[in-house]
Amino acid sequence: MENKKIKIGLIGLGTVGSGVYKTLKNFDNIEIVKIAVKNKNKKRNIEDFDESLITDNPYEVVTNPEIDIVCELIGGIDPAFDLIKTAIKNGKHIVTANKELLAKKGEEIFNFAEENNKVILYEAAIAGGIPIIMPIKTILAGNEITKIEAILNGTTNYILTKMDMQGASYNDVLKEAQELGYAETDPTGDVEGFDAAYKITTLATLAFKKRIKIENVYREGITKVRTEDMQAANDLGYKIKLVASAKMDENGYADVRVHPMLVSKDSTLAHIDYVTNAVSLTGHPIGHITLSGPGAGEFPTASSVVGDILIIAAELGKTDYLLPMMRCNHQEHADMIDISDTQNKYYLSLNAKNNKGVIGNIGNICAECNISLESIVQKNVLENNTANITVITESCLERDMQNAVRAFQDSKFINSVNSLIRVQNVL
Ligand code: HSE
Repeated sequence: MENKKIKIGLIGLGTVGSGVYKTLKNFDNIEIVKIAVKNKNKKRNIEDFDESLITDNPYEVVTNPEIDIVCELIGGIDPAFDLIKTAIKNGKHIVTANKELLAKKGEEIFNFAEENNKVILYEAAIAGGIPIIMPIKTILAGNEITKIEAILNGTTNYILTKMDMQGASYNDVLKEAQELGYAETDPTGDVEGFDAAYKITTLATLAFKKRIKIENVYREGITKVRTEDMQAANDLGYKIKLVASAKMDENGYADVRVHPMLVSKDSTLAHIDYVTNAVSLTGHPIGHITLSGPGAGEFPTASSVVGDILIIAAELGKTDYLLPMMRCNHQEHADMIDISDTQNKYYLSLNAKNNKGVIGNIGNICAECNISLESIVQKNVLENNTANITVITESCLERDMQNAVRAFQDSKFINSVNSLIRVQNVL
């Protein structure tokens, strides 16, 4: 007797959707029965594509009684949020790659799915092709995870890598990345750190088993990183990366953020280049592990989406309560620490007048703000009789550092504060 095929409805047939369509063709037990697209007339780069599956009304997918699993690949909140809820109401399990929806509406959709005894899987939403959600939920479940440091956005990692390798400016590399199709025409979501913030919000929620509110996640993008900072960081033994991090302290406060960071050249993240993503986890009893791989792209992302579909498909019809370990199992919200209360090391680049006592003035301002210096470098005096001075501090309070920046801005010795970038603290 032939086994019943599992019926899939796809919403979205862009880059990822096409990869999912092509990959699912290899599985005899799975059948795509409906695909919702924005533009029915768009030419598709898919061999033997069955045009009859296409609709421009996604509600035809989420309400179709034949469909077992709805796969949402359009991103954003509206209409994805309502489509997913409608699909659940209509008895579908969900596979999604929608990181924004998970970060902003996770609590609501997971509660709704649980009330309706449906599962939502989302391996593709975080770090594309890297398996990270399933490992945290299952094989790493015995761990207390205390720290994540990750590179979760390929576009910004590509830009920073190119700036580092070519000595090119942020704007020049962004333009080149847009021409090559690596960066969007409106790059805000990537370069201002929103994309990475969505992803670390969900990762931290899973890792700490407490909900993280996106509005409490500190976010800073890469647009202010200068070629000169790259050079100075290199001279001091660092690379600059957009790091998404999450830490849980011993008092139960979570510190979740995204910002550029100087990472030691000896660290794993320093060697994650171009569009590659990586997630480093520290926990007990595992210790320290890093998973790295392609964070985006047609087939790497399809690998995660198809994996999720097959995981659900394998259980359909065999149990009344699918995949208990993959469900949302936390209700409590995490207490969060504000960025101004965090301890960090800093890289600071100042332009100063070429006067006697300037270095002393910098040291005094830092001392008055409770900041101890690890190093201070002035290489030469520039033609305009100013000097660029690079400071690395020891670990200090963010609020104290912000006070120091204001004092530098008021100092008669300092022309400008060029950059302030946090430095990875390995302790
Ligand atoms: N825009 C993302 C990136 C990929 O550049 O990594 C999709 O999450």
